[in-house]
Amino acid sequence: IAAVGWPLLQGQGRPGHLLPSQVPLPRPYQVPLPVPPVLEPARSDGTSDSYEITQHQADLHILPGLRTRAWTYGGSFPGPTIVSRSGRRTVVRHRNELPQPVVVHLHGGHTPAASDGYPVDLVMPVSGGGDPMAGMDMPGMDGMPRMSGDIAHGERSYTYPVNQRAATLWYHDHRMGFTGPGVWKGLAGFHLVHDDEEDALPLPRGERDIPLMIADRSFAADGSFRYPAIDPAMHRAGVTDAYTNGVLGDVVLVNGAPWPVLQADRVRYRLRLLNASNARDYRLELSPQPPGGAAFVQIGGDGGLLARPVRHDALELSPAERLDVVVDFSRYRPGTKVRLINRFGSGPTSEVMRFDLSPSGRPPADDSHVPDQLSELAALDPGKAAVTRTFAFQQSEKGGWTINGELYQPGRTLARPKLGTTEVWRFVSDFHHPVHLHLEHFQVVSRNDADPGPYDAGWKDTVSLRPSEAVEVVTRFTDYPGKFMLHCHNLEHEDMAMMADFVTE
Ligand code: C2O
Ligand code: CU
Repeated sequence: IAAVGWPLLQGQGRPGHLLPSQVPLPRPYQVPLPVPPVLEPARSDGTSDSYEITQHQADLHILPGLRTRAWTYGGSFPGPTIVSRSGRRTVVRHRNELPQPVVVHLHGGHTPAASDGYPVDLVMPVSGGGDPMAGMDMPGMDGMPRMSGDIAHGERSYTYPVNQRAATLWYHDHRMGFTGPGVWKGLAGFHLVHDDEEDALPLPRGERDIPLMIADRSFAADGSFRYPAIDPAMHRAGVTDAYTNGVLGDVVLVNGAPWPVLQADRVRYRLRLLNASNARDYRLELSPQPPGGAAFVQIGGDGGLLARPVRHDALELSPAERLDVVVDFSRYRPGTKVRLINRFGSGPTSEVMRFDLSPSGRPPADDSHVPDQLSELAALDPGKAAVTRTFAFQQSEKGGWTINGELYQPGRTLARPKLGTTEVWRFVSDFHHPVHLHLEHFQVVSRNDADPGPYDAGWKDTVSLRPSEAVEVVTRFTDYPGKFMLHCHNLEHEDMAMMADFVTE
C-alpha cells in the first residue's frame, strides 16, 4: 500500500502568522486546571505492563458554550498519562477508530525501531478500508512522493523496553506529512518514567508533582480546532498559506484548558513543563516574581534529572522541549495570584495560567526540598567522538524545509552511526528550528562554538536551534540497530519535509 506525503507543500510560502480564532475568546483564569488521568494497565505481569488506547473522535468542552470535535487518545485531550517504571516493559496497543491513518511515537523513548513510530508505518483505521489518503481529498496531491511502510490494519502494539532513566516523555501522532494537524486536533499525551534514583530524592510528589502540557490552538466558528489548508473545506476557502513557518493559535491551553487556574498551597510544587505546541516558543515567567528572583529551580530536562539544580528567572521552551522545575510558593504572601506569563507572546498569548495561593496564613506541612546534588550524570566526551557530522536545517527555494538540502524521503539515509560509538552532531540553521533526535538523548556541547545556553543542561532530545546558529551535541549510540529519525519539531516544518533517516548498525 502506498502512502502519500507533503500536503502542506502544496501551499505557497508566505511567512507563517497567527491563525486567529473565529469565536470570541473567553477571559483568562476562569476554569480549573485539569490534570490528565493516569491510565491503568489492562494487564501486568512480573516484567511488563500492557495498556490499551482507542483513538477516536470525541466532543470536548474547551471553550465555554462550544463543542470541539477532537481527535483523541481514549476520549480526552491531553490523552491519558502512562506511567512506567524504568526496567519494566510497557506495551501499548493502539486501536485506530479515527477516520485517518495514524502513527504513534513515544517522544524521548529509547525504543527499538519497530515500535518507534516511523512515519510511514501507518495504523490504518479500523473502519476505513485501505486508503491511506482517506479524508484527505485535497487538490494538488499528485506529484508527491509515494512510499510504503509497515502497514497495520486497525491496531498496532508498540513495545517500549523502558530501558532508560526517569524522565518526562510524551507520545503523539507522527504520520508523515500529517503530524501537525494530528497533534493540533488532539493526539498528544504524557508518558512519565519513574526510577529508584529519583524516588529517593525529597522532591515534591503526589498532588504537588504536576505535568503541564502547554499548547496554543485556534478555534473555528463551529468550535472545532482551526487548522489551515489540510482541511479540504478551508483549502477551498483559500486559507492555505498560514503554515510555512508553523501554525500559531491565539488560545493558550494548559492540559487542554484555556488559561486555567490552579488553587495552590504555599508550598513547593514540581511542575513538569512540556511545550506541545506545533510551532510556538515560550519565555515563561512568574508574575509577580517572588522576592529575590530565581522563580524556578530547574531539576530536569528532556532526559530526566540534571546533575545539580539550575536557577532561572525565566524559562525558554521551544516545541517538544520539557523543563522540570520546582517553584516554592511559600515565598509569596497568602492569597497572592501568581500568573505564569509568556514574554514571547502578545495579547492573549502572553498569558498562560495562574496559581491562586491559599489565603490561609499557615501553609500545610512541606518536607520537600531540592538537594544540591540530584543525580550522577556522566558527561560524554566530545573528544572521543568517532565522527562529527553536520546537518544544515534550511528552507529550500520552493518553500519546503530541508536537511542538508534534502526534502525527506523515507528510506534515504543521511547518517549511519555505529552502535557502541560516540558521535558529535553539528546543527546549523537559517531560521529557528527545534531539532529532535529519536532513539538517543544527547548533551549540548556548544552554541556558536561557545558555551551551551542556560536551558541546555543535562540530557536532551530536542534542542532549540536559533537563526544563524551552530549547535553541537554529543551522543552515544548504545543499542537498537535500525532506522530512526532526525527532524525539526516545528510540526509544520516537519510536515514540509524537514526530516531525515539515520540508520544505526
Ligand atoms: Cu516528538 Cu519525531 O517527534
Ligand atoms: Cu524547523
